[in-house]
Amino acid sequence: MIAIHPSEPIPDPLLEQPGFSVPADLEARIDELVTHYPQKRSASLMLLHAVQEQFGYISRQAVEWIAAKLSLQPINVFELVTFYPMLQQRPVGKYHLRICRTLSCALAGSQDLHGHLCSKLKLDPDVHGPQTTSDGQFTLEYVECLANCATGPVMMCNEAFHERVSPSRGDELVTDCAKQSRR
Ligand code: FES
Repeated sequence: MIAIHPSEPIPDPLLEQPGFSVPADLEARIDELVTHYPQKRSASLMLLHAVQEQFGYISRQAVEWIAAKLSLQPINVFELVTFYPMLQQRPVGKYHLRICRTLSCALAGSQDLHGHLCSKLKLDPDVHGPQTTSDGQFTLEYVECLANCATGPVMMCNEAFHERVSPSRGDELVTDCAKQSRR
C-alpha cells in the first residue's frame, strides 16, 4: 500500500475549474452546516455534496476550498472524492443513468440493459466508467451495488431509483427523460 503524507499535493486527475467561486448564500449555508458537527472534518461529505449540487462535480479548486474551510489538507478531501462513487470528478449530463453491474443485478440481466442503452445512446458498451452522449444530455455509468439487490436489474436516473428494469423499460425511462429535456 502506498502511503500518501497529508501534506503532499493532490494527485491527478481532478479537473481544474478556473474562476471557481462559491456563491455567498452557499457559503453561508455551509458555515452553518459545519456548526452541527463536534469536529469540523466530520462535515466533509456534507460539504462535498453541497458543492457538487452547485457545480455538478468536484474540481481541484473545490477540494482545496473545502479543505481550507475545514482546516484539512486537500488530500484528506481528495481521498473522499475518489472513494465515494456518488461524488463526480467530471461534469455529467443532465440525466445521469447508473446501472448496477454487481452479481445479483448481473444475474437478473443488467449486462443486457447496459448494452441496450449503450446502443440506444450511441455509447461504448465496453466502457464501465461514466460516458456522456455528444449532446450532453445523458451520462451512462455501470456501477457497483446500488443496495437493492433483490429487485434487479436496478437503475438510477439522477436520484430516482428504478427496479426490475428490462431493456424495454430502460427505453421508456430514457424516452421520458428526453421528453422532459425538451420542455
Ligand atoms: S447487486 Fe444490484 S443493487 Fe445490489
